[in-house]
Amino acid sequence: MKRKLQRVPSLRSRRARTRKVSGVSIPAASAAAMMRLHDEKLRLCEALESIADTLPNVDRFSCLGTANRIVPLLRDIHLFEEAVIFPVYEAALTGAEASFQSISRLRAEHIEDECFADEVTEQLLGIGHGRPIGNAEALGFMLRGFFESLRRHIAFEREHVLPRIISIVDAHS
Ligand SMILES: [Fe+2]
Repeated sequence: MKRKLQRVPSLRSRRARTRKVSGVSIPAASAAAMMRLHDEKLRLCEALESIADTLPNVDRFSCLGTANRIVPLLRDIHLFEEAVIFPVYEAALTGAEASFQSISRLRAEHIEDECFADEVTEQLLGIGHGRPIGNAEALGFMLRGFFESLRRHIAFEREHVLPRIISIVDAHS
């Protein structure tokens, strides 16, 4: 099914200012949009960690609310990065840097995280709707594996991708 952008202002606005890097266009507000989406993803991680920390006595309403945020948020940020950020980052890499294939890995992690997100969402929705928690330890392990993976991914993008995007946007301002 074709994915749709719903919450990325820089892509929705036809009047957004754009820059071109090696023939690839990038909206001037892209770095800020990426940071904003990262912050939202980190807040999701905090919510998941809070649930994991309180197992098995979780707040079922919190489980429902958190479950409903996971998939839409990941799809928004992944689509934004893959459509706007990664092409510019790749175009800006030198030959030696490009050999690391970091963008291929980041794209693969997006797919893995979305698959993992479906499993976590299903678990949290079940608990939110009153299903007993059968194995709190296993659920905690699943939640921690998920949000720790998201945090590592964000940390890499903030250390390697975002600074390059900021410098590109600044250089062309
Ligand atoms: Fe990403």
